[in-house]
Amino acid sequence: SLTVQRKDRVALVGPNGVGKTTLIKTLLGEQAPDRGSVKLGTNLQIAVFDQGRTRLDPNLSLWEALTSDPTMAVSGRSDQIMVRGTPKHVVGYLKDFLFAEEQMRAPVRALSGGEKARLLLARLMAQESNLLILDEPTNDLDIETLDLLQDVLADYDGTVLLVSHDRDFLDRVATTTIALEPGGQATVYAGGWSDYQAQKPNLSGKKAGKQATKQSTTSTKVPTPEMKTSDVKPALSFTEKHRLEALPAEIARIESEIGKLEELLGQPTLFTEHPVKFQKATALLIERQEALAMAEAQWLELEEKSGG
Ligand SMILES: Nc1ncnc2c1ncn2[C@@H]1O[C@H](COP(=O)(O)OP(=O)(O)O)[C@@H](O)[C@H]1O
Ligand SMILES: [Mg+2]
Repeated sequence: SLTVQRKDRVALVGPNGVGKTTLIKTLLGEQAPDRGSVKLGTNLQIAVFDQGRTRLDPNLSLWEALTSDPTMAVSGRSDQIMVRGTPKHVVGYLKDFLFAEEQMRAPVRALSGGEKARLLLARLMAQESNLLILDEPTNDLDIETLDLLQDVLADYDGTVLLVSHDRDFLDRVATTTIALEPGGQATVYAGGWSDYQAQKPNLSGKKAGKQATKQSTTSTKVPTPEMKTSDVKPALSFTEKHRLEALPAEIARIESEIGKLEELLGQPTLFTEHPVKFQKATALLIERQEALAMAEAQWLELEEKSGG
């Protein structure tokens, strides 16, 4: 059972053929479940970023691809479209999606794969939606399109359901990860790919230890990955025990992220030359510091409970 809240970023991960696309189709009501039920929120407006199935008319110009789409709200003036209720000039809007002014009259067929993906994204973002579905969106996207996709998702006000094999992308975007396994097992983890890796139970016990010692930490206050938690007393549940074992590595990872952000924010020219980047880094730093405090509190609590 899972409840998805507004603004959650839920990632589905698992090997090919395990049922990720099928689960999304079931959630959207395109496929009925054999058992169980799906309850959708009220007033859901679903947008699907589907590079495979969404067809762009190759003969339309970039400009027309935005303004002639009947689902697109064109404002009173023909050179403007409505983006979330606000009129935006087509050229300016497309520039946000990294298109040059000279490209406005070029036909869609002349666009690269990454450019087509950005055009699809521009169309999706101009439509009203509060649930965005992305099924393997990062396959064959260039770096600048990937970066843009991440920025757009960060600003997106609705909920995101995402299928991806791109671990870095998952780490940056996902707040919840559902791991599907062959045989029908589905487990929900908080966080992205690394959090899932750190939290997932490791039945052999060996791999988890190896993974934990690979990480290093600069902190003195918090537990180091080298600290042994293997002799944990049975007051902890199975899940809690594994959480306790995974936390030192997770704490080390968050600390290293904080270190990088602080280094970035320490650059004297960042604020004046890249105000947006500065703002984002500041917001991320606050978020990471909160995550660190939570992880440390959880570690202390579990460590106490284990009697250590
Ligand atoms: N829970 C399930 N029960 C029965 N068949 C399933 C289930 N999940 C997936 N399948 C079948 O397995 C195949 C692959 O599923 P798909 O959702 O496309 O996998 P993925 O997107 O993870 O690669 C499809 O033919 C689908 O009908
Ligand atoms: Mg699939």
